[in-house]
Amino acid sequence: MALSRQIFDTVIVGGGGSGLRAALQLAEAGHHVAVFSKVFPTRSHTVAAQGGIGASLGNMQEDHWLWHMYDTIKGSDYLGDQDAIEFMCRKAAEVVYELEHFGMPFDRNPDGTIYQRPFGGHSQNFGERPVQRACAAADRTGHAMLHTLYQRNVRAHCQFFVEWMALDLIRDYEGVVVGIVALEMETGQVVIFQAKSTILATGGAGRIYHSSTNAFINTGDGLGMAARAGVPLEDMEFWQFHPTGVAGAGVLITEGVRGEGGILLNSEGERFMERYAPTMKDLASRDVVSRGIDQEIKEGRGVGPEKDHVLLKLDHLGAEVINKRLPGIREIALKFANVDPIREPIPVVPTCHYQMGGIPTNYYGQVVAPRGALGTSEVIPGLYAIGECACVSVHGANRLGTNSLLDLLVFGKSAGDHLCEWLKTNPQHRDLPHDAADRSMERLSRLDGAQSGENITEVAQAMRRTVQHHAGVFRTGTLLREGVEKIREVAKRARNTAIKDKSRVFNTARIEALELENLVIVAEATLVAAEARTESRGAQAREDFKDRDDKNWLKHSLWYMEGSRLDYKPVNLQPLTVESFEPKVRVY
Ligand code: FUM
Repeated sequence: MALSRQIFDTVIVGGGGSGLRAALQLAEAGHHVAVFSKVFPTRSHTVAAQGGIGASLGNMQEDHWLWHMYDTIKGSDYLGDQDAIEFMCRKAAEVVYELEHFGMPFDRNPDGTIYQRPFGGHSQNFGERPVQRACAAADRTGHAMLHTLYQRNVRAHCQFFVEWMALDLIRDYEGVVVGIVALEMETGQVVIFQAKSTILATGGAGRIYHSSTNAFINTGDGLGMAARAGVPLEDMEFWQFHPTGVAGAGVLITEGVRGEGGILLNSEGERFMERYAPTMKDLASRDVVSRGIDQEIKEGRGVGPEKDHVLLKLDHLGAEVINKRLPGIREIALKFANVDPIREPIPVVPTCHYQMGGIPTNYYGQVVAPRGALGTSEVIPGLYAIGECACVSVHGANRLGTNSLLDLLVFGKSAGDHLCEWLKTNPQHRDLPHDAADRSMERLSRLDGAQSGENITEVAQAMRRTVQHHAGVFRTGTLLREGVEKIREVAKRARNTAIKDKSRVFNTARIEALELENLVIVAEATLVAAEARTESRGAQAREDFKDRDDKNWLKHSLWYMEGSRLDYKPVNLQPLTVESFEPKVRVY
């Protein structure tokens, strides 16, 4: 059956912060841009970002982009690429001021400047003391940002395909990416979108974990598309656990609470972070705070009947500060924990929050895949990736809070700018290969034709439980090896799912099955890469290899779907213009 075809200059898969920022750059330059989103764009997961955007504006105290760069490299446990980190920290003020001029409703200081709050791991003068660097719109910064960018895109005539799911990339015979195959969720119609360039901006895949701050839409669709097209996934062993998810519910309680003065307490009423991070305390980087909480729980100082969480106390901030700076948090605490933080502490526990790894790119957002030997790599023509689905790598083994929104803005804009130039020298559409949609159609017909098979929800549940148990905050070789075996079993089951009663279920079951295929790819990459990395670095804490091992492991992992094999490439320790920050012991 011939599929219908539409033609654009650029197709962008994902309508969150990075996708919208890139779209804006291209649409305002007059390019014909299509943005695909499984949900209405302003409901993308960026909307859930709370605390702020990191930028050394210096509105509250003296600050400098070089201090921000140092904090980011230290936070990454030296796995971040220093050229990309310099690029991001230098551009931070520019992209925040742009957003301000687009109409973003930031909180204000009495002198009219943007309000900034402290966040974990952000410091003055190379780690001396905390600094207020997070540019905030109350505790709804992502919400304000997404609406600002969406409105601006509408004005620029960007075309949105809402409730569409991208299925696969189309590569021609020379490996150039020439578009995507996508599915309209309501009707099930499959369409080929031919484009000169394609940007993946699908966000993270935090739904591989059972307990996650991520939206249900965060299913790693871009990662699945890239992996199926032969692109490796980088550093997938590194998953950030946010220290303060609401216990039992997983909903995010912003680090901004601790930025405003909130503190963590164990069952003995102790401010335990003083033991783990004597200088930065509750505002140490996230991996350090999450391990601190987990350690307290392991040693029996957790709170509640199961002693399985700790408390976040903020009543001492007073009703005025809470209502002005943290109104969303109060609402979340009331709804999901049944406590009013003006009077009582919030029960919290580390919860999967962010994927540091992803599709390998340079700082223009171009996807770069290695060519055999360690260290040589080449750009995949026509393909870009930005935001959480990409690995630039500015976050290395652990991201600093507020650097995610910054990453979306800086690399969304950078990819848009780069593409505007690229399109000048690549003005023609290339021919589609004759088998452009074959892979997608085979996946759909297997699913639609299956008369019997595994239940999609049960397989998804097995995947989430496996990843949660085997790749949590603390890991061991035995746990990870078992995890790899189990996830390979789950992957087999995921290839054998069936929609049970086709007359009763709407297209959603089909979408869930397609999402599960993507999630399982991400889950396998995670466990395989984590098992192989025999060291502790950032978010990868191995109880059997407690130290960081720069001699053997100062390198990025690359997982290939074909054969589920690993390769490695070196970390770029060379910044663009300044001296390199050499790896040191990390103390907060
Ligand atoms: O805690 C937070 O508000 C989350 C911010 C982030 O992940 O950057």
